[in-house]
Amino acid sequence: PTDTIFMYVQVNICYNNGPSNITDAQVISQIGSLNADYNGTNPEFIPDDLTIYNPLKAKALIKCILLPIKRRLVTTSSWTTANLMKTAASGIAPTRPDSVLNIWVVNNLSGGLLAYTQLPGGPVATEGIVIIDEAFGTIGSVVAPFNKGRTLIHEMGHWLNLKHIWGDAPCGNDFCGDTPLHNTANYGVPIYPHYSTCTGTPIEMTQNFMDLVDDVAMYMFTPNQVSRMRATFGPGGFREAY
Ligand code: ARG
Ligand code: CA
Ligand code: ZN
Repeated sequence: PTDTIFMYVQVNICYNNGPSNITDAQVISQIGSLNADYNGTNPEFIPDDLTIYNPLKAKALIKCILLPIKRRLVTTSSWTTANLMKTAASGIAPTRPDSVLNIWVVNNLSGGLLAYTQLPGGPVATEGIVIIDEAFGTIGSVVAPFNKGRTLIHEMGHWLNLKHIWGDAPCGNDFCGDTPLHNTANYGVPIYPHYSTCTGTPIEMTQNFMDLVDDVAMYMFTPNQVSRMRATFGPGGFREAY
């Protein structure tokens, strides 16, 4: 692509204790890392990693514009995926969820979850992404190894219609012709090359944002992933673009 898609982002901070009332600077660090990863200005984008997937690093050309941050002191310290943080009764109601990406930053999610996302086609009222403050941004209350803002770009991939790179099944299909087959999710910092045992025994693209490795180890989308994400905007897409 050569044209930038602009996207409005509303950050809703449902804080419960001191650290979860994150600073504006922590929010801005997250938006900065997101825009870097979308536009190929992240440090790993330069062609120096010497893996065979270096030529498949693609710029999505999506830019997120931060709307004024909303905050509320809430009584819930740990939430389930029942979306109650998205309600005025217990959290913060979304801002124009038909066209604005709403993100709820919460103190904790049960089950050790860092974040979760509603996939395209779900109810408008619960559109958006929920993420814990420890995995949000690159400064402040963020905690290693999820301290480079990559949890949000992974979730944004889902929000923009991407599946996990292993296709959510053993050697599964992620609907992207330019990603290799993966046995399953990878974690931590994989050692290159990690070969799949799927058909053709390809080297797995563990550095892809849609795997589950540590933040330092994930840094790219492919051209097909970029096409799928961008197709969710505009005419015929799920979402309005500005
Ligand atoms: N939804 C996934 C989880 O909660 C996100 C994992 C993101 N991975 C990362 N390296 N930031 O586990
Ligand atoms: Ca927390
Ligand atoms: Zn995921």
